[in-house]
This record gives sequence, structure tokens and C-alpha cells, in this order.
Amino acid sequence: MKTIIEPFRVKVVEPIKMTTREEREQYLKQAFYNLFLLHAENVIIDLLTDSGTAAMSSKQWSAIMQGDESYAGSPSFYRFEESVRDIFGFRNVMPTHQGRAAERILFSVMCRPGSVVPNNTHFDTTRANVEYVKAEAVDLPIPEFYQPATWHPFKGNMDTDALRELIARVGPERIPLVMLTVTNNSGGGQPVSMANIREVKAICTEYGIPLYLDACRFAENAYFIKLREEGYADKSVKEIAREMFSYADGCTMSAKKDGLVNIGGFLCTNNDLLAQQEKDLLILTEGFPTYGGLAGRDLEAIAVGLQEVLHEDYLNYRFTSINYLGRHIADQGVPIIEPPGGHAIYIDAAAMLPHIPALQFPGQALAIELYREAGIRSCEIGSVMYAHTDPETGVEKPAAMELVRLAIPHRVYTQSHIDYVIEAILQVAKRRESLRGYRIEKQAPFLRHFTARFAPMK
Ligand code: F0G
Repeated sequence: MKTIIEPFRVKVVEPIKMTTREEREQYLKQAFYNLFLLHAENVIIDLLTDSGTAAMSSKQWSAIMQGDESYAGSPSFYRFEESVRDIFGFRNVMPTHQGRAAERILFSVMCRPGSVVPNNTHFDTTRANVEYVKAEAVDLPIPEFYQPATWHPFKGNMDTDALRELIARVGPERIPLVMLTVTNNSGGGQPVSMANIREVKAICTEYGIPLYLDACRFAENAYFIKLREEGYADKSVKEIAREMFSYADGCTMSAKKDGLVNIGGFLCTNNDLLAQQEKDLLILTEGFPTYGGLAGRDLEAIAVGLQEVLHEDYLNYRFTSINYLGRHIADQGVPIIEPPGGHAIYIDAAAMLPHIPALQFPGQALAIELYREAGIRSCEIGSVMYAHTDPETGVEKPAAMELVRLAIPHRVYTQSHIDYVIEAILQVAKRRESLRGYRIEKQAPFLRHFTARFAPMK
């Protein structure tokens, strides 16, 4: 059979409220043209994120009924721990309420002011948590990463020459850990190859630096390795994931992505000494180490979700559907990051709207227009999110790329939803010259994209 179908049936439905263009115009104004400030019920197709938006399975919902809410030593924790260990293999597993809590604890324990943390590319909260402890977050992707149209099988890889140069320049004693984000979210959901993980690990070993994975989308990364890297076609995705983690000393995880749950995360390490310090901090702000800010039922849902996401029929369907979206718009001339990523399609708004300067936010303009056109919510990943203001001169420098991410929630939308999205993007693309930029009227000192207020340029 040629058609790859959704390998699940619908058991519970959630109605979508349909809206008119006039209503959406009103909602946009009320939200100060910031899509984070919309009421979600006024969104028809929500592609803001694949994080925490998954539809849970009947097995997860039944596991939830087994949730044991004991304050300490709940059996739900031990089921969670067993499931995490089965795949990730780390000695210490600490639940957290989501990924960024794991990041905060990790960097608080491992970094000092002046520390330097290399990553293929830091996600926004990861960067913010590194900088919050007065350490420096350095992105070291391969050069192809910054060339949206260039095809590379593992565009998420770290530039290992650049890593060596950085270590030589700042000295290994200032680098408490190296991180690899799998998949590399900020630049297209692009995978990191096993060869690259091994090479980065070898460099880390040479200098005695621990390697951590930001594991949010580990299953998608493992599936890319199976499809694209020599020697992995006959291995199961679980075996590949285990090998990925075998090279790491620990990880941070947002279970809201490849854990297929609506809330939760964890921090892992093989270092017992660090684990003790991390647990102390966990108790301070998250909770006792056997629940870490989650309910027992959440731990149960994660335990099941982590195993379900490794089903290869599911990953095959997910990749096929996302690829279908990417190909249908790219083949009609909408520039996207090639090749399509594991959880999302990223439109290159700088290439699509060359008449809008970076600091008038072409990505924001496109995201707003997709909402206006069809009620689709996407996410700007460009200068709204990543522009850098020089603290001395006050001059704002644009981000390296101006992207709009269409992230596909797990198991939520069907093929006709995807066809609707394609139609809307192609309609906006037809009148791309008519789109105008935006300016920021009000903003927060960090992570401004969540709350900034915009106004259209005249
Ligand atoms: N690391 C990566 C690579 C992420 O994509 C995210 C979240 C986090 C860490 C933080 O996890 O949200 O559970 O605290 N990414 C979401 C997104 C928000 O939309 O890509 P969290």
C-alpha cells in the first residue's frame, strides 16, 4: 500500500471552534499581534508547539488511573524510573515539572560565573538558564546549519573543529559540560548523527569534560539515524536511542515532547555526587526526589509515553506526514529549511519576504498572516526570539535566521488538517509582496517573545 495512514483511531474528540477573518483580525489586535497572547480557543489549527500538546493513548490514560500519590517512594516513581532507565540507561533519574526545571538545576550545580557551555544550538530556555547563572552559552553548529536550502542528512551536528578551538581558547577548566541537543530544535528539528555524538564524546573524554544530551526529541533523532546513517537500518529505534545515551554522562529531558505527555521532564546523571547536589535543589523548588513537582499519575503517563514514542509505525507515519507538508509547500516555491525536520517544518521567512528587514520581523509578519488567513498558529523563531542587543552600545543585532516554525503536535491532527495548512500557506505565499513588517512597542528584558507587544509598520 502506498498510503501511510495514521496508525491510531480516534476515541475522544475535541471540537474546533471555527472563526471568521473579521473575528481573527479582532483577536490579533486584542493580543497585540503576539500569537502567544491569543486565547487558544480562537485558534483553528495550533502548530505553536509539539510540546505538551500530544494526545495521550488509551494505555496512558489507563496508567494514569494507577497513579499513586504517596509523597515519598510512590510505586509510580519506580515505574517511571524503570522506563527511563530502560531507554536512557543513566544511574540517577530525577523527575522535574518540565525540561527547563531540569536545566535550571543542572546549570546551577555545574556552572560558575564565567563558565562556558558549548551546545550544537541552545534552545531559548536552555540559553536563558545558562546565562542566568552568569555562564556563557556558545552555539557550535556545522556551517550548513545556517544555510536553510542546503540538504545535509545530519544538519543538527556540532562543528567538532569549532569545539576544539573553543576548548583551546577558553581552557577546559572553564567548560563544566558540553551539550548536544537532539534533535536540534532551533534550526529545523535537524538530527545529530551517531558519528557526531561519538566524536564529541571523544573530545570531551580527552579533556575530562562531561557530555550531556538535551534529549527532548530523542526518538525522532534515533529514527533519523535509522533512516540515514550507515549501519543502523536493521537496528530498532530503542537500540539506537540506547546507544546515543551510552555516550553521555547525563541528560535533561522535557517529556512534553517525545514523552508524549502534557507535562513533565527529568534530569539524569551518572555522577552520584552531582546527583546529591541536584536532589537538594530539587527539594528546594520542585519537590521530593520521587515526584519532583509531578503527580504520581504524570509519572505513570511518562513511563508509558516514552515506550510508545519508539513505535516505528508511528515514527514512520509522523515523518511521512511532516515531509508531505514540507514538500507540498516547498515544491510550490515556499522556501523551507531542507530537509524537513522531525517535529516541524520551518519556513525561511527572510527568503520568502525579502522586502521586510530582519528587525521588522519577517517571521512575525508571516506567522500573523497565517493566523489571519486561516486561524493557524505558528511560531516565529527569528529576531523576535533571538536578536541580541549589545549591552554597551544598545544596538540590536538580528538573529542568524528568520524562521517560522509549524510544529506538529503528536497524534492530534489528521491528513485533512495538514492539507488545510498547505492551502493556507500557498494562499499567503501568492500575495507575499503585500505583507508588511512589525515593530515592538513593549518588551521584557529576557525571553521577550512570550509577552512582547507589536504594532504593524505603516
Ligand atoms: N530543550 C529543547 C530542545 C526544547 O525544545 C525545549 C522546549 C526545552 C529544552 C525546554 O523544555 O518546555 O519542558 O521546559 N521546547 C518547546 C518548543 C517549548 O516549543 O520547542 P520545557
